[in-house]
Amino acid sequence: MSRDIVVAIDGYSGTGKSTTAKKVASELDYIYVDTGAMYRAVTLAFIRAGVESFLSGKIKTLLDEVDISFIKNSSTGLQETYLNGENVEEQIRGIEVSGRVSEVSAISEVRRKLVEQQRSMGANGGIVMDGRDIGTVVFPKADLKVFMTANDEVRAERRWLELKEKGKHISKEEVLENLRSRDEIDTSRVDSPLRQADDAILIDTSNISIKQQVKDILILAKRKLGKDI
Ligand code: DC
Repeated sequence: MSRDIVVAIDGYSGTGKSTTAKKVASELDYIYVDTGAMYRAVTLAFIRAGVESFLSGKIKTLLDEVDISFIKNSSTGLQETYLNGENVEEQIRGIEVSGRVSEVSAISEVRRKLVEQQRSMGANGGIVMDGRDIGTVVFPKADLKVFMTANDEVRAERRWLELKEKGKHISKEEVLENLRSRDEIDTSRVDSPLRQADDAILIDTSNISIKQQVKDILILAKRKLGKDI
């Protein structure tokens, strides 16, 4: 029997990363971990605790009180994010958290705590993890690394549609602005900046469907597993 592998999917937001990673995990019957949701949950905890919680003196105390878990919703079959036992899936996707998550994820203490949890979740393989630093920091020895990119206007349009479907009405310009500012902070931060690992396979999703992205990654994964698709 072949061993279960670690699949690391990194890239910019709005590239279809999470949707693709989720489907790849389900096809392989692997665990899926959305690490962006973890940074979003910590951001929500910080926002709730007030602005002063962003000051370094308070960060450790706050982080000690943060517990993040994922639980499958039995009616939708989808995994949802919990912060200290509370379902926060909806709140962490809103514009307030999106506007501050890059700032919070640039804090080294936050990254240290979450990376440790992510490593333990993937310790036995059989996992598809998506984020910004999975192939470079969390699992530098991952069996398969994919880096996803796309034109920023295409990405903003996708994000805007997603929010609209959820009944959140914000302008496309606002979405594009948020996306560009997050790209800027994510790629230029000192600790674990978003970058393509040397051994990651680049997929530009500007003109390809989710179905095609899933298919391409499954071919790569099955090759690593020594199986034919
Ligand atoms: O994937 P997402 O858009 O939900 O991620 C939200 C933010 O979290 C993103 O702007 C950067 C940060 N993030 C990170 O720094 N490292 C990760 N592994 C995942 C996300």
